Amino acid sequence: MRTPKVVCFRVTRACNAACSFCLAPPDGVHPSKAELIRRLGQLAADGAEVIHFCGGEPTLHPALPDLMLFAARQGIKCKLTTNGLFLPQRVHDTIGRVNCVTKFSLHGPSHHHNRILRRLAYDSVVNNIRLLRDTGCTVSLQTVLIKGGSWVVEWLLEFCVREAIPKVSFIPFIPRGYGRDTRNLFEPKPSELFDLHRMVLNLRDQLAGQIDVRWLEFISRSYIVVETDGSIVIERQSESADENLSNIGHQTSLQLVDSNTHQKKYFISA
Ligand SMILES: C[S@@+](CC[C@H](N)C(=O)[O-])C[C@H]1O[C@@H](n2cnc3c(N)ncnc32)[C@H](O)[C@@H]1O
Ligand code: SF4
Repeated sequence: MRTPKVVCFRVTRACNAACSFCLAPPDGVHPSKAELIRRLGQLAADGAEVIHFCGGEPTLHPALPDLMLFAARQGIKCKLTTNGLFLPQRVHDTIGRVNCVTKFSLHGPSHHHNRILRRLAYDSVVNNIRLLRDTGCTVSLQTVLIKGGSWVVEWLLEFCVREAIPKVSFIPFIPRGYGRDTRNLFEPKPSELFDLHRMVLNLRDQLAGQIDVRWLEFISRSYIVVETDGSIVIERQSESADENLSNIGHQTSLQLVDSNTHQKKYFISA
């Protein structure tokens, strides 16, 4: 198989939030640091150029800074998608050191964002967005477009203008993971999706040169993901349309983490 140049690398499926549309629901599993480094080494040797660290919530993996440093030393460009709740100083410093582009998920104003994540989250994420922005790191935002959520588009663009955030991506809800069971709640009808798309494209044109506005979707694009078990999968609109490419996982020690308390529960070694 030809290794993809851009890979979404799930470092964990543990999470400190509980979005009911989550496409990669928490299962409490952290692959070990050694195993993740080995996988990154293999991807680098096979020609990967961009590693997009994601999860679950990648900042919960204690090895995230070492993984980013290792990838950067292999000449790989690092990107990170985070809910922004937990950004320890070492993660912050490493983002700066490796020039990692960081995308924060922000779903709207305080009450709405907290309702989506099902915890108090808004103040922490905005605080962490500002901290990274103020140290000169490249920061952007991403939000999930859900049924009845067109007002979020304008709210988020105003937030970007107010907070000097240069880029925002809108990703329409897709029925994967928990989203399979919650699609009646979240999935825009095709006509609403069409209007949302037109709205985002119009605003993109109006804001050209000021904010980079992106529309991301799984219908026309597919994403190459390295899952926590090491499988390399082309992820599409639904799990049934996914394609398994290969597996670079070794069954080494897996550290199971309680996704609410972040306490280690036990280790498995194979
Ligand atoms: C799976 S999350 C992992 C990273 C991190 N925990 C976060 O939320 O940013 C990656 C991105 O997918 C988005 N997402 C989650 N569930 C989705 C769904 N059902 N449809 C579209 N995007 C979704 C999240 O909002 C986030 O921007
Ligand atoms: S914060 Fe990210 S990983 Fe966690 S539940 Fe929400 S979408 Fe899923």
